[in-house]
Amino acid sequence: MRDDLKAAVYGLTDELTGWRREFHRHPEVAYREVWTSAKLRSLLEGWGLPVEACAKTGLRAVLAGAGGGGPTVALRADMDALPIEEEGDAPYRSLNPGATHACAHDGHMAILLAVAKVLAAREDGIKGRVVFLFQPSEERNPGGAKPMIEEGALDGVDAVFGLHLWQPLPTGTLGIVKGPMMAQPDDFTIVVRGKGGHGSMPHQAVDPILAAAQLVVSLQSIVSRNVDPLKPAVLSFGSVSGGTIYNVIPGEVSLTGTVRTFDPALQALIEGRMRAIIEDTCRAFGATAEIRYQKGYPALVNDVRMAEFVLKTARDVLGADKATIIDPVMGGEDFAYYLQKVPGAFWFFGAGDGRPHPHHHPAFDIDERALAPAAFHMASLVLDFLERGGKV
Ligand code: NI
Repeated sequence: MRDDLKAAVYGLTDELTGWRREFHRHPEVAYREVWTSAKLRSLLEGWGLPVEACAKTGLRAVLAGAGGGGPTVALRADMDALPIEEEGDAPYRSLNPGATHACAHDGHMAILLAVAKVLAAREDGIKGRVVFLFQPSEERNPGGAKPMIEEGALDGVDAVFGLHLWQPLPTGTLGIVKGPMMAQPDDFTIVVRGKGGHGSMPHQAVDPILAAAQLVVSLQSIVSRNVDPLKPAVLSFGSVSGGTIYNVIPGEVSLTGTVRTFDPALQALIEGRMRAIIEDTCRAFGATAEIRYQKGYPALVNDVRMAEFVLKTARDVLGADKATIIDPVMGGEDFAYYLQKVPGAFWFFGAGDGRPHPHHHPAFDIDERALAPAAFHMASLVLDFLERGGKV
C-alpha cells in the first residue's frame, strides 16, 4: 500500500490545487504556452531536476535515480488550453480573454508536478530514471507529440504513461481500455461552388445550397450503408456556411466536419466514399466541389500488458472497486504517437462529481478532489514499474 508515498502526495494537496488554479488562470493555446512553460521550468529546476526545452514551448525533465541502472519510464502531461471564452465565475477564472483550460490540461500539469516533486524528494530510492514530458499543443492537429518525439523525448525510454482527467467518470476512479481506446480524428472541408444569382431566377443560377444540403444527407449513408455495423465510425458535420441575404443565391457553400475511426482500412473506405458521393452529387447539380480531407492523430492503442499493469496498480492503491475496463471513446489524443514508439498505456481518471459540463464546454471545470489520488496512483505506478525492473 505505500502509505508513506500516499502521505507525501496527499500532503501536497493544497499546493497541487494551487498549481492547477494558477494554470487555469493563465491558459495559453497551442504553442503559445510561454508563461506555462516558464512556470513549470522554475518549479522543476527548484526541485533539482535538469530541464531542457522540447518542441518549442515543451519541456523534458529527467530524474536520474541512484545507482545508474534500471529502466526508464516517461510520463506525459499536455499543456495547452482551448481558444474559447470561459463561462462562470470561479475564483480561478481565466485571465486571458478568449482562452480557457476547458479540457483539464491544467490538472494534468499539476498532477505531473506533484509526481515529480514527490519522486525527486526520494531520488535515492528510484531504481531507474523518470522522464517528465510537458507537451505543447495537444488540441491542434498536427499536435506537439510528434515534434517532442523527433526532438528526443522518448530517447532511451522503455515505457510511457499518461492520463486524462475525465468528466464522465466519478471522481477518483480510473477507466482504461486494453488495446484501442481512442479514435483517429480526421477533419474535412468541402467547398461547393455553383453560380450565384437572383433568388427569383433560380434557372439562371447553379444553387450550391441545394447541392450542399443534398451532401449533408447523402454522406450520412456512408456510416449507415457502407460501414460494417460491428465497426465503430462517426461522420459529423460541424459547420455549414454560405450566403448573406434571403433573396440571393450564393456562389458557394462550405461544409466542415469530422470523421472518427479506429481501423485505417475503414478510414480509407470512408474517405473514398466521401469523395465519390461529393463529386457525383455536385456534378448532378451542375456544381463543382473542392474537398480537403486532413488525417488526424492515429488511433490511441494501449499495450495490453501495460494496461493490465495500470489496472492492477490502481486497484492496489485506490481500491479494488476504483479501477475498471471501460468502452473506447471516439475522441482523439496525440498520446497515440508515443504509444506507436514504445509500449505504454493511457487512462482516464474521473473528475466529474458535481461537474455537469463536458470537456470543451465553455463552463467546463473539474472536481479538484481527483488531483491527489491521480498523482498518488501515477507515482505508485512508476515506483512499481522501476522496482520490477520494467517487467510487468
Ligand atoms: Ni484534452
